[in-house]
Amino acid sequence: MANLAIFASGTGSNFVAIADALAGGPHRVAVLVTDKPDAPVVERAHERDIAVYHADYRPRRARSEVEREIIDELDRRECHMIALAGFMKILTPTIIDRFPQRIVNIHPSLLPRHAGVGAIENSFNSGDTELGITIHFVDYGVDTGPIIVQRSFNRSEVADLQAACERIHALEHYWYPKVVHDLLDHWSQGATV
Ligand code: GAR
Repeated sequence: MANLAIFASGTGSNFVAIADALAGGPHRVAVLVTDKPDAPVVERAHERDIAVYHADYRPRRARSEVEREIIDELDRRECHMIALAGFMKILTPTIIDRFPQRIVNIHPSLLPRHAGVGAIENSFNSGDTELGITIHFVDYGVDTGPIIVQRSFNRSEVADLQAACERIHALEHYWYPKVVHDLLDHWSQGATV
């Protein structure tokens, strides 16, 4: 059994996909960490009786100070791993070094193409023939780090941006829970980095 923390700031569709896939199994979502207490993802957590921790990223606070508080919360809840699911803050070495190879991110493009915000629109409007998703370990960069899984489809298979968004989210909701589950299995078997 391993405990997962999910960090999210928005709609929470990947939070829901992971939480519902893990429900009834050996692993559990121990806490949702958010910088946005009004985000829809918070309601999704309450519906599932999952604890919510509001990370206090007020202006002028050092991110490392906020992260030390997050780490205290994750330690209290004995979290083995972190999954970023639309978390809009960049993590610093304070938390990245505390969870080596235990922080994963999902991004709606075929990295290294279209890192950062607006990835789906940028992919769709580019000349790329393949669109897709990337699940990767988090390092000090923005949407960089060793790639775990990429899945793609041909641009010609989607008629418009809306269809591209739907296809990408469907890939995310299928693959992210699987990858997270396998990593939780790995870490719960006492693996070391
Ligand atoms: C997802 O599409 C995820 O790939 C993206 O945020 C969305 C969150 O949606 N993440 C990034 O762009 C990271 N750079 P959700 O709140 O419905 O899960």
